[in-house]
Amino acid sequence: MLTENKKNKASTASANATDTEVPGPDAEMLPTRKRRPEVAFPRGHEEVKFGDLTLYLVEKRMGKSRRNFLSNLARSKGFCVDDALSGNVTHVVSEGNTAQDLWNWLEEQGFGETRDTHVLNISWFTESMSAGRPVPVELRHYIQNPAVDHRSCAHPSDKPESAVSPYACQRRTTLDNHNKIFTDALEVLAENMEFIGNRGPCLAFRRAASVLKSLCAPLQHLEETHRLPCLGEHSKAILEEIFECGSSSRAEDILNDERYRTMKLFSSVFGIGPKTAESWYHRGLRTFEQVLSEPSIRLNRMQTAGFLFYEDISKPVSRTEASALKIIVEEAVICVNPHATVHITGGFRRGKEFGHDVDFIIKTPEPGQEDAVLPAVIQRFKTQNILLYSDFQDSTFDLSQLPTHRFEAMDHFSKCFLILKLKREQESCEREASRDWKAVRVDLVAPPLERYAYALLGWTGSTLFERDLRRFARLERGKLLDNHALYDKATKTLLPACTEEEIFAHLGLEYIEPWQRNA
Ligand code: UTP
Ligand code: MN
Repeated sequence: MLTENKKNKASTASANATDTEVPGPDAEMLPTRKRRPEVAFPRGHEEVKFGDLTLYLVEKRMGKSRRNFLSNLARSKGFCVDDALSGNVTHVVSEGNTAQDLWNWLEEQGFGETRDTHVLNISWFTESMSAGRPVPVELRHYIQNPAVDHRSCAHPSDKPESAVSPYACQRRTTLDNHNKIFTDALEVLAENMEFIGNRGPCLAFRRAASVLKSLCAPLQHLEETHRLPCLGEHSKAILEEIFECGSSSRAEDILNDERYRTMKLFSSVFGIGPKTAESWYHRGLRTFEQVLSEPSIRLNRMQTAGFLFYEDISKPVSRTEASALKIIVEEAVICVNPHATVHITGGFRRGKEFGHDVDFIIKTPEPGQEDAVLPAVIQRFKTQNILLYSDFQDSTFDLSQLPTHRFEAMDHFSKCFLILKLKREQESCEREASRDWKAVRVDLVAPPLERYAYALLGWTGSTLFERDLRRFARLERGKLLDNHALYDKATKTLLPACTEEEIFAHLGLEYIEPWQRNA
């Protein structure tokens, strides 16, 4: 049941999530260099929203007061800005300098070429301020060192030396998908295979789609696929037809197929996985009405909630709604443990604008505090009358049982799958007329402190990125990775890590930012 529900979580995600385009730079947002209004920003009280990044603005050419202004603007929007070019800096932002001048200056500062720091044009900063969050770094944002040729994503016609890795964890995949026409078709085929229970071909189509998502330009010719990994003959045949006819007849046939449509409908319900969906289909059921009026069908508690709140929870959750929920979760968590912190994870951490749920990870400062948090938080939601459904799973985590050799869909941390009432905006209330709240799916997980980095990495996703991290660790490094730990088979030890960066370093992988994990 739980495994099935996990799959349901994933398939609902692909059915409902819509990735919108990153908004373009708002020209009126930043003052021009000529006019410099002295805007007072309250200092020292800004909440850090994007703790994974530290910006550094290069004063050269930008000038001192504009640099101050932009630094404070960024801080007021929840970005960390370092005044010095310290080791914490992840994003260097420059304005008006030539690549040569900038890199000469950086080298004078002892800034190493090998450092995993983005050196970016002001355009990335402007777009991020306009979006109110860090936009995915694209090739066009980089100020490349003229002395070195370094690429952040692969061009389809690149030479073999810059070959695309067969592992998603060695590719940078932002939400800017330049090959949507191909990946949409491949994902329909993958989903159909999943519904049929054909796991091998399902994964093959997902891998093919994922490789195309990592490319920084659209494929122009079928020949370009020859140098790409993970594209089998079936995937290539789909691409070939799209090149020739503009669409895939196979994908279209599937979209019109009664079985596929019914499976998709049934498994879009919270608590209904492919197995249940299939058994209903085989019993001749095609609609929710037929399922609900079939006397022999007994829905469990989760499925009942799934139908009860279907209208709301089948709609995508927006980033604004996710932020509102974060405040609600934070208030509840702080009541239980004033030192605990709440961090958004899942698709929203990867920069998505919409999700099928909102995933939060709770960090407790002292070992042993994690188990008390969720039951108390759930109790508080109940008292506040915002709890519509709750499935709490107590921790079954046992360090002495590590490593686990077979990957399990569920980890062993204390967690809960919830449906909460979220207050609607005034205007949408009037539109909907009936009630002033929307039901939203929320997942909370509370790992022990020393497992936090592993849990965060595991819950950030994407599912394929995680799968390839584990595969890479096992096949290329002789290590076993899951949401709890990284185990080195050679030394028979568990490798400690406080940050995701340390885990990537243990694996000998370049660090991939969360918004580059949309594989
Ligand atoms: P989601 O299914 O929420 O996916 O799981 P998502 O990427 O956030 O997609 P949307 O935006 O909701 O549609 C988030 C991550 O959490 C992991 C999943 O494997 C996925 O990578 N997860 C979830 C676990 O590792 N363990 C669990 O028990 C549940
Ligand atoms: Mn999610």
